[in-house]
Amino acid sequence: MNSAPAPVVILISGRGSNLQAIVQAMRADRLPIVIRAVIGNNPAAPGLAIARAAGLVTQAIDHRDFTDRAAFDRALMEAIDRHEPRLVVLAGFLRILGKAFIDHYAGRLMNIHPSLLPAFKGLDTHARALAAGATRHGASVHFVGNDVDGGPVIVQAEVPVLPGDDTGTLAARVLAEEHRILPLAIRWFVEGRLSVRNGQVLLDGQVRPEQHLVAAPTGTH
Ligand code: GRF
Repeated sequence: MNSAPAPVVILISGRGSNLQAIVQAMRADRLPIVIRAVIGNNPAAPGLAIARAAGLVTQAIDHRDFTDRAAFDRALMEAIDRHEPRLVVLAGFLRILGKAFIDHYAGRLMNIHPSLLPAFKGLDTHARALAAGATRHGASVHFVGNDVDGGPVIVQAEVPVLPGDDTGTLAARVLAEEHRILPLAIRWFVEGRLSVRNGQVLLDGQVRPEQHLVAAPTGTH
């Protein structure tokens, strides 16, 4: 394992609680990374203010300043590559990225998604899980592939859907798990423990039958 902290760039669009969880994991749990930059597509994103307050380098690249998606993606790539990251993390980044961008970062672009993929790709996952009568829901971290919220899953965490849940209570239960599994997946990556074979993520060279499902700590729900 490389002992120097791994350079990482984080992309966000909004609130930034997953970013906060990563910063917390660096500080409290010695997650061996250095966040070279936090880049947001919305200059008003509260997450950018959180990053600045944490002393991180931030940059806003407003997608509305670009006439097409490819031009935005190119500007984003240039900004990211200046920091020479080993890993790029989409931590609540809500823009769809094009094929050239995804190919450029193949194998080192990770996303957090609030569902048990492949269920409920896309937006409004909590409302859709409730409407479908799901009894279990959760979050997934995956390598980004060319279909939206596709790509090999690295780790998932499951929560129950409880009687009386609304989107707020369910989202909060899932978010607590996101904050656990995103730093965990980053740790596995920077420690060199992840590989991909035949579209499946291996941890320490092994396929885990439970698809790297991480149980919630007892007593959290
Ligand atoms: C999270 O639920 C994430 O899974 C989804 O967008 C939300 C971002 O939350 N992609 P935050 O900005 O990290 O608080």
